[in-house]
Amino acid sequence: MVEKWNITVKFYRQKQGEKPHDQEIKMDVNPDENVIDLVERAWALHDRTLVFAHACHHSTCGACGMRVNEREKLACITPVRSVVANGGTLKVAPLRNFPVISDLVVDMGELYRRMDLVGHQPVDSDREEAIQPEFRPAGPAEPNEDFMRLSDCIECGLCMSACPVFSSTPDYLGPAVLAGAHQAGLEKNPLLFKLIDSATGVWRCHSAFECTAVCPSNVDPGWRIMELRRKVIGDRVKTLFNPRKPAEVGK
Ligand code: SF4
Ligand code: FES
Repeated sequence: MVEKWNITVKFYRQKQGEKPHDQEIKMDVNPDENVIDLVERAWALHDRTLVFAHACHHSTCGACGMRVNEREKLACITPVRSVVANGGTLKVAPLRNFPVISDLVVDMGELYRRMDLVGHQPVDSDREEAIQPEFRPAGPAEPNEDFMRLSDCIECGLCMSACPVFSSTPDYLGPAVLAGAHQAGLEKNPLLFKLIDSATGVWRCHSAFECTAVCPSNVDPGWRIMELRRKVIGDRVKTLFNPRKPAEVGK
């Protein structure tokens, strides 16, 4: 028999030029549904003016990023029972640190522009170590491709929303962008090296690792930022003993 819960869902509502407010809707839910199912049902049965984004429904497109009870999540893979108890209240709000376009949809244009700037490649690699542990087959057997979850950034923006530094310093390139720079490979672009070794680059990070905690794709931006720092320091040491021309920086 399907379990039935009754919960209150608080939807963040804001249209352009208006002040934000919460809209409360009591809903009967199956706790095994995902949060996106509730959002869709609220739109279909309660209020057709609710604006939200979604597409793939399986954590691939990155469109459904939002804050669920103050935590960044992909709504399409967040089971209701993982974020609220029967009779409780679930708050659904847009990602932080991006301008709200309407209700749960934010403008992530700045993220996409910065990702282009650092030459981010949407698909990175199929290295075995890039597979999330829970999807990695046990034992030495060949990885089963059906269960692979790779370290490909889906540009969902969750890490940018969770980052406490990006929140107070909008010029900071941000975890997704620095992870994109790392994935793109410094050796391919010496100018990129200068960008990440700047006041708005890797040194601005406070190592909070909130980005890694919320990333749904095993990109591990926090680790990648630390790796970039290591490369920058390595380059400085090399340059100290073997000065090079500016065009060679980062090689
Ligand atoms: S690094 Fe992770 S959390 Fe950040 S945009 Fe890419 S997939 Fe999303
Ligand atoms: S709908 Fe595509 S990631 Fe959630």
